[in-house]
Amino acid sequence: MQNRPARPTWRHVAIDGPVASGKSTVARLLAIDLGATFLDTGALYRAVAYLALCARADPNDDATVLRLLAAHPPAVKAGPQPLQYSIAVDGQTLDRQLFTPSVSRAVSAVAAMPEVRHRLIGVQRAFAAERDVVMAGRDIGSVVLPNADFKFFLTASLDARVQRRLRELVQQGIDIDAAALREEIKGRDDRDAGRALSPLVKAPEALEIDTSAMSVGEVVQTLSAIVRKNSE
Ligand code: DC
Repeated sequence: MQNRPARPTWRHVAIDGPVASGKSTVARLLAIDLGATFLDTGALYRAVAYLALCARADPNDDATVLRLLAAHPPAVKAGPQPLQYSIAVDGQTLDRQLFTPSVSRAVSAVAAMPEVRHRLIGVQRAFAAERDVVMAGRDIGSVVLPNADFKFFLTASLDARVQRRLRELVQQGIDIDAAALREEIKGRDDRDAGRALSPLVKAPEALEIDTSAMSVGEVVQTLSAIVRKNSE
């Protein structure tokens, strides 16, 4: 008898893209559609920025950020729904507090620190090692899961991304000036793409999709059709 793997290999879908390109929303819905789990890797980096802000530390201070990260490592925690995962620190689930403008302003600095990336990439790979997953981030196809079965790179014009993020923030009751948000998004894009270690980059084999004129449903349908067609 031939040796067979104990179970089929896990299916990994990588979705990368710039700030507010819709990747997290699309990845979450695509995961539901495919019966896979979803992980928003940006939330892990945000958790580290949040730790620094809670400690009133400078998010650019490597030594302090690393000390905080070692003392309070962010973990991926199951729930609240089946196939859903959230980020917890010291057992406490972090959710909306990760998406405030102050965390958004602080996060690029911690995400550029090699030791922070090293640790969080370990968390992401360990998570993916045991499940079908749709993972959203900046370096999933290029660094975290270079052997992902499917790699997508979502883009959208800066105007479209500003409008999307504004709507999200308004829904959360967060009031922010559109011009300031535009500067923040552009600044974060530049820092994410310009950092030395695993910058925001499209993996050469990733399929790039400009979602500026597409609804979330259309993007999910497009990606789902590609995954299903090529999984048969
Ligand atoms: O996707 P997001 O905007 O929530 O991500 C927050 C920050 O985390 C983003 O500015 C860059 C960083 N990040 C990263 O460096 N690598 C990832 N895989 C995901 C996010």
